[in-house]
Amino acid sequence: MPRDAENSDLTTVVLRVDPTAPDPAAIARAAARLRGGGLVAFPTETVYGLGVHALDVDAVVRLFAVKRRPSHDPLIVHVASFEQIAPLVAWRHAPADRADAEALATDLARRFWPGPLTLVLPRAACVPLEVTAGLDTVAVRIPSHPVARALLATARVPVAAPSANLFSRPSPTQAAHVLQDLEGRIDIVLDGGPTTVGVESTVLDLTADRPMVLRPGAVTLEMLRELLPDVAMRGDTGQHSEADTGPLPSPGLLTKHYAPRVPMTLYEGAHATARMIDDARAAIGGGKRVGVLVPQEDGPAFEILPVHRVLLGAEADPAELARRLYAALRELDLSGVDVILAKSVGGPGGLGLALRDRLRRAAGGHIVET
Ligand code: TXA
Ligand code: MG
Repeated sequence: MPRDAENSDLTTVVLRVDPTAPDPAAIARAAARLRGGGLVAFPTETVYGLGVHALDVDAVVRLFAVKRRPSHDPLIVHVASFEQIAPLVAWRHAPADRADAEALATDLARRFWPGPLTLVLPRAACVPLEVTAGLDTVAVRIPSHPVARALLATARVPVAAPSANLFSRPSPTQAAHVLQDLEGRIDIVLDGGPTTVGVESTVLDLTADRPMVLRPGAVTLEMLRELLPDVAMRGDTGQHSEADTGPLPSPGLLTKHYAPRVPMTLYEGAHATARMIDDARAAIGGGKRVGVLVPQEDGPAFEILPVHRVLLGAEADPAELARRLYAALRELDLSGVDVILAKSVGGPGGLGLALRDRLRRAAGGHIVET
């Protein structure tokens, strides 16, 4: 792809804003760039997004090029209010057995929006196919971060925003991460400090036979079940790879995603720590520099080894683990290690499901069961 298609000669302007009460002048400047077809990164409660005017096809195409994102991977459209959803959605095109999609979406919106939930709904004709990767559905979300809300309310246009990282890299949870990947290729970064959730929104498909979670997140299966007793979690098929060219229902299906550049192995099961120590010793013996990603409780076990150790937080606190996960992966990537050994955290329920999912993706399928 030609370099100019990637906007590689821009000066990226960083605007620092108070995350709770952003300066209206900074917001107005960023909103004007969005309306004019620019690329603006902004914090949401989950991760930083890279926004463009969702109905401006040229801007959407430029966004894919800048992120080096394959065009078959659809984008989430962000809006400020539920009223802005209506024009984007063709409710009457919901399958017959999902004729209740509008009522369901309204209930879910009341309970979880603004917040870290994305709904997949039937696409209205005004939403460009470039946004949805050719799908008849559109993913929409109302984020809760005050900076995102102010930006969307001021721009008054729907904003397509993937996470503001290069494709397949860990999502950015700080403005510095956005700059690591995209400085010189995007117009503006609104720096509102670190994000609070740390992993991407839950993606819930309301157009399938039954409500289906395509990507787990902070709106958990248990929370959704209160409103949707028949909600299901998409099984981990592991069948898609980045070489696939058909439209992806969700990149949650990619086996390698959110990944550091350094090869990472994930250790699961009761004997994970002991096995990691053995493997770390062997790698060090083979002349490799080793990075280790573990919960706080495992810190002391690795003190005796010459490894770059990153402690994620207390195992009992999944919110803290999630908040720090992507920064930890980026730190290990930049630390000069040759391999990363990570201990699985999280579990079958709650936010733990999202954590384990992201760690598995980051390991790109290199998982050791102990
Ligand atoms: O928390 C988040 O969702 C962040 C912030 C910026 O809002 N955004 C984000 O976007 O994670 P992205 O592009 O990195 O991930 C979007 C996810 C992908 O898994 C994509 O496949 C799925 O949403 N998605 C988008 N449109 C879809 C559709 N029509 N049907 C099914 N999945 C869709
Ligand atoms: Mg992403």
